Amino acid sequence: MAHLMPSDSFSGQTILITGGGTGLGLGFSHECLRLGANLVIVGRNQERNAEVAKKLSEQYQRQVLALAADVRHYDQLEAILPTILDKFGKVDKLINNAAGNFISPTAALSHRAFDTVVDIVLKGTYNCTLLLGKHWLEQKQKAAILNIATTYAHTGSAFVVPSACAKAGVVALTKSLAVEWGPLGIRTNALAPGAFPTKGAWERLFPENLQHLMDFNKKIPVGRVGEVVELAAIAAFLLSDYAAFINGEVLTVDGGEWLQGGGQFNFLNALTATDWAAALAATRKAKS
Ligand code: HXC
Repeated sequence: MAHLMPSDSFSGQTILITGGGTGLGLGFSHECLRLGANLVIVGRNQERNAEVAKKLSEQYQRQVLALAADVRHYDQLEAILPTILDKFGKVDKLINNAAGNFISPTAALSHRAFDTVVDIVLKGTYNCTLLLGKHWLEQKQKAAILNIATTYAHTGSAFVVPSACAKAGVVALTKSLAVEWGPLGIRTNALAPGAFPTKGAWERLFPENLQHLMDFNKKIPVGRVGEVVELAAIAAFLLSDYAAFINGEVLTVDGGEWLQGGGQFNFLNALTATDWAAALAATRKAKS
C-alpha cells in the first residue's frame, strides 16, 4: 500500500513519544522516523529503550534519544527536558502513548491497583502535556499533541474500570485543551484504537484461557483486527499540518467494533441467508 504522507512531512521536527519503545508506541516511533522526524522515547525501561533507540537510529539515519522517566512523576519529566532541548533545541509534537491496563473484577482491585492504572494513563498524560504545554506557551511555539484514548472511554467498560475512568479523563483533557490552547497554536487530538494485538496489551487483556471467547472476526465488522501500521499512519496524519484544521477530535480506528456492540439490531449480523429468507417472509406476513 502507498504511504499516506510524503516522507519529508516531519523533517526538522522533534517528536516525543512516551512508551515509544514497545507496542503501539514503537509503531508510532517507526512512522515518525519514516516521515523524517527526530525522536525522543521516554519510558521506565531505559535499557530496553536505549537498545531500541540505537536500532531505530541506524535503520532510519535519524537521531533517536531514549530517556528514563516514569510519566507518573512530574519531577522526572521536568528533569529530562533540558537534555532534550540541549540535543534538539525544541520539541514539536507529543504523543502521550504510555499506558497501563489489565482485566480484573473491580471488587478484586486494591486501591493501589486502581491508582496505578489511573496514574500511568491520566496523570502520565496530563504531566507530559502540562510540562511541554507550558514550555510551548512560553516559547510561543506552535505544536501538536496526540493522546491515546479507547472506544470504551465513551461507553465505559466492565472489568477494565480504572482504564475506562482514566481514558475518559484523557478525552476530557483532549477536548478542553483543544479549545483553551487552540488559539495559542497548540492542537490537541486523540485516537481511540480498537483491537491492535501487541504483546503487552494482549497478555494483560486477553490471556490465553479466555481467547476462545474473543472471536474478533465476528466482533469487528471488517472481519479482522488492526495492524499497528494502520494506526501509526493515522497518528502521524493527526499530528501533521495536513490535519491543521482538526482540533479536539477523538478519532476511532477500530473497524467498526464499538458500533457493532451498540446498535440494537446488530446481532442480526449472525443470520444466514436462510435465516433471512424466513425472517423476511415472517415480517411480510405480519404486514398483510
Ligand atoms: C490485579 C494487579 C494486577 C492484576 C498489578 N496489580 N497487576 N491487580 N490484577 N493483573 C496491582 C498490584 O498488586 C499492586 O497493588 C498495584 O496493582 C501496582 O502493581 P505494580 O506491579 O507494582 O505496578 P507497576 O510495576 O507500576 O506496573 C504497572 C502495571 C503493569 C499497569 C501493573 O502491568 C505495567 O507496567 N503495564 C504497562 C504496559 C501495559 O499495561 N500495557 C497494556 C496497555 S493496553 P498492591 O495493592 O498489591 O500494592 C491499554 C489499551 C486498552 O491501555 C485498550 C485495548 C483494546
